[in-house]
Amino acid sequence: MAKEVILSGMQPTGMLHLGNLEGALRHWAQLQNDYEMYCCIVDWHALTSDFGDTSQLRQSIIDVAIDYISGGLDPEKCAIFVQSQVKEHAELHLLFSMIIPIPWLERVPSYKEKSVELGLDSYGFLGYPVLQAADILIYKANWVPVGKDQLPHIELTREVARRFNGLYGDVFPEPQGKLSQFSGILGTDNRKMSKSYNNDIYMGESEESTAKKISIMYTDPAKIRMGDSGHPDKCPVYLLHTIYNPDHKTIHAGCSSGELGCVKCKKMCAEATNTALKPIREKRAELEKDLPFVEKVLASGAERARARAQKTMEDVRKAMKLL
Ligand code: TRP
Repeated sequence: MAKEVILSGMQPTGMLHLGNLEGALRHWAQLQNDYEMYCCIVDWHALTSDFGDTSQLRQSIIDVAIDYISGGLDPEKCAIFVQSQVKEHAELHLLFSMIIPIPWLERVPSYKEKSVELGLDSYGFLGYPVLQAADILIYKANWVPVGKDQLPHIELTREVARRFNGLYGDVFPEPQGKLSQFSGILGTDNRKMSKSYNNDIYMGESEESTAKKISIMYTDPAKIRMGDSGHPDKCPVYLLHTIYNPDHKTIHAGCSSGELGCVKCKKMCAEATNTALKPIREKRAELEKDLPFVEKVLASGAERARARAQKTMEDVRKAMKLL
């Protein structure tokens, strides 16, 4: 029986952080064993906000590709590719743009929030979810592993598929979101870890810098000096311990009783985190020295993606009576 298909993507906004690794990449790496999998680096989407300065874009694409591979994606099992290298995404986006009512796009929550917050008012930004629908539907994907914040985009993708199928006949399946069990690491300031909050720790961060960032992390404000008992379940440092320190139960007990002070706890956290990330960082350093290999991975990923995308476009053109 043919495997079900998965498409997912991330914007190339620079090196990925531990939130991306634990919240997404580890999940994708498991899925690649059981599904036909396409992992996209969505560079056109990055232009919807960062069109003014593209000087870092190329480097960011390479950084994400390196993080994808070092984080566990296997180029033999899943097609790792760059969106702009599969032009069919743009063709499908254009055709979708003809059939999508503007009000559908104006009520997408991310549009309302970001257009005000970031002052974005371009045509392409309004069409962000249409391009995302094209990314997904061009592979006739059944599943899209994403975070909760992306579910409105998946819902819109389903509406696009329904509308297309209603107008021209059944071409697209309606994909579903696939949430990962683990919903996210907190950043150094106790908010969701995010590049835009500048509270992140990179997968490829040096050991020294990792230790430094952890040393200034937010901790339980009720625990001021050694001896005060803390609330580890509310502490982002302890959250890191639960992920990277096999002996986190001892930390929990020590913090709760007050025996373990925050300075020592953070030192132990940095050590555990650095130890756990060592293989990923070694792989990363290796790939950084072998860019021709990374480029080869992206080229062969694009070739595999393109083959499937072209097939879908044939179905689309036929259904729409285009030549
Ligand atoms: N909007 C997604 C994000 O910001 C990125 C994205 C673009 C995507 N196209 C996609 C995610 C297709 C999944 C599938 O995270």
